[in-house]
Order: sequence, then structure tokens, then C-alpha cells
Amino acid sequence: CGASRQRRRTRSLLVRNESLEDEFVRAKAAVESDTEFWDKMQAEWEELARRNWLEDSEDQQPIPPTVSPAEKGYYFNTNNPYSDWPNAFAEAQEKAREGDLNTVVLLLEAAILQDPQDSEAWQLLGMTQAENENEQAAIVSLQRCLELRPNNLPALMALAVSFTNSGMQREAGDVLRRWICHNPRYKHLVQESRSPLRAVCVCRCELQDVLLLFQEAALLNLDGVDPDLQTGLGVLFNLSSDFDKAVEAFSAALSVRPQDYLLWNRLGATLANGDRSEEAVEAYTRALELQPGFIRSRYNLGISCINLGAHREAVSNFLTALNQQRRSQRCSQQQMSANIWAALRIAISMMDRPELFQAANMGDLDLLMRAFDMSDV
Ligand SMILES: *[C@@H]1O[C@H](CO)[C@@H](O)[C@H](O)[C@H]1NC(C)=O
Repeated sequence: CGASRQRRRTRSLLVRNESLEDEFVRAKAAVESDTEFWDKMQAEWEELARRNWLEDSEDQQPIPPTVSPAEKGYYFNTNNPYSDWPNAFAEAQEKAREGDLNTVVLLLEAAILQDPQDSEAWQLLGMTQAENENEQAAIVSLQRCLELRPNNLPALMALAVSFTNSGMQREAGDVLRRWICHNPRYKHLVQESRSPLRAVCVCRCELQDVLLLFQEAALLNLDGVDPDLQTGLGVLFNLSSDFDKAVEAFSAALSVRPQDYLLWNRLGATLANGDRSEEAVEAYTRALELQPGFIRSRYNLGISCINLGAHREAVSNFLTALNQQRRSQRCSQQQMSANIWAALRIAISMMDRPELFQAANMGDLDLLMRAFDMSDV
């Protein structure tokens, strides 16, 4: 009996360490950051495993299942309380202004089930799903919108961003080219091209060619900034790992749209990518001033705090994010939640507080919030 207990214990320990490692890998993938930083984290992590604080906790947070990227259809929520609402779309626009994303999604799904050809509803649904960290649903929704209205420029730009966030660089480039091709201001750049191959809207082109096209387009605008064009340029420079140029482009876009918190967050992520964490903190802070419930940006801010050695601030941002998320539970957020917990464990491990690490390991949010003097407001 003793031996089998021992075996069971060893096995469960193994499983536990494996899943922790998985989580760590996922958290790592979710963050745009420099490798040196992550090598440091890795070393911390191994040190932590060596000290074996992990050993005594039997209860492990279940690892949420990952959503397969191959899924193509849109999955509607079942039991939608708004399914028969007469003004679902108008109501959704109202709720979108208040930032109540879950309700917005339900209202838009209701609007679409009432009229599947409503391209505006598909567009807003796509943008909301992207903001709600559900890129797969965002991509499907925006594609539906574009099937109904192929020249919808904001939908094309949003789709390019969602493809970028999902690591689908080639698709992102193709969609950005379509954006130029359908844009009355720039489409002559594609259509007047001498090479017939360049003169079609839908093509599979090299990212570099699309970047050249955007740079040509920017030269047409010497007397003013087109924020959408600059956003596209920023995405393309980022995809080419030219982070300083990407920062310039996003900053130019922000000079025209200073209230765009998604753009502030994008600027922050690009700065962090280019090893400019202090400036990244400023950009994320700006995003959060405009939209305090923006969980992705708070998570990114926490990561930059770790980068700068401000572990306590990091922890407090992660706890705030987890607490906000707990109130708006939604399955699409499980992955994000796992990432935040993993990052939180890393930050706490760097503070050398084993008893708190234990609490983090068990997912005891209330205990941690008390330990860090945070009230549940
Ligand atoms: C930059 O590109 C990477 C993929 O190479 C992507 O994961 C990230 O979201 C992009 N960042 C921005 C701000 O577009």
C-alpha cells in the first residue's frame, strides 16, 4: 500500500510538473517579448521547480481545453436570452459603448440569427470578439461580413489584425492588400500596375510586396496622416520585425485617434517587442485610462512590469485582471485566464514568497487579494 501510494504520488507530481510546463510555454507564446527576458524566466522557473515548492499541493487547477484553430464555423451561444429581441443590433451598439462585451456578443448573435445577411452585425460581432480575446470567432465573423460586403474597409483592417494576432502572417498580408485594392484613395496603385499579376485584388503575395504598396500609399499622403493606412503599416512593419518603424506608424495613427485604446495597446506591445518596456508601460497605462476593463492590456502591463523588475506592481495588475475576469466568466477567456495565472506565479516566485506561491498554485484569488491589500471593488 505504501509503495503504491508512493508511485501514485510520483506520478501525480510528474503530471503536475508537465502541465505547469505546458502552461508556461503557453504563457510564453502569448506574450510578445524578447528572448533574453524569457530565458531569464525559464531559469527562474527551473530554480523554482528545484526548490520544490510545488511538491505539496495536491489540488491542481484544471487545464482548460484549447480551441482548435481548424474550426471554421461560427458557434452561437445556446439559450440566448435576447433571441427574440426586436432591436438587438441597436441595443448592442449601446452596450458596446459601455464596454459590456459579453452582452454585446449575445445581442449581435440574436440580430444575426434574425437576419443572417446583416453585414453590419457580422462586422461588429467580429470586432467585439477580437476585443474579447476570441480571435477565431472574430476571423469567422469578419469573413462573413466581407462575403456580404467585400469592400468594407474597417472589416478588412480588423481581419488583418486578427490574422496577425493568430500568427497567420500570410493571410494578414493578403487582406491588407485587399484593403488597398478596395480603397478609393489608393486602389489605382494596384490597378495601374504594369504587371497584370499585381492588378488583381485577391492574390497570394509576399509580405514585402504588400509593405512596399503601403509605403507607396503613404507617400500620397504627405499633407496629412491616414490613421488606417498607418495602422496597416504598423502591422506590416511588426510582421517584418522592424519594431521601431512599427512604433512610428502606430504613433502616427494615434496622433489622429488619441482615444483608440486598442491602438494604444498595440503600440505598447510593439514597444515591448522592441525592448522598450518603460515606454510600453506608458502606452498600456494610457489604454487602461481609456478602458479600465481591458484585460489584455492589463496583462501586457504586468508582463512589462516583470521586465522592469517591478514584481509587486506586476502581481497587482495580474490580480486585478483575474478579478475582472472572474466577474465576466466566459469560456473563450479560459486560455487568457490560464496565461494570467501562469504569469502571476512567475511574478510571485520572483518575490520569494513561497506561501503565496502556494496560494497562486491553488488558484486562491481571494487569499492573494487579501495578501496584497487589494479590495474586491
Ligand atoms: C506582431 O506580430 C506578431 C507575430 O509575428 C503578433 O503575434 C503580434 O500580435 C503583432 N503585434 C502587433 C502589435 O500587431
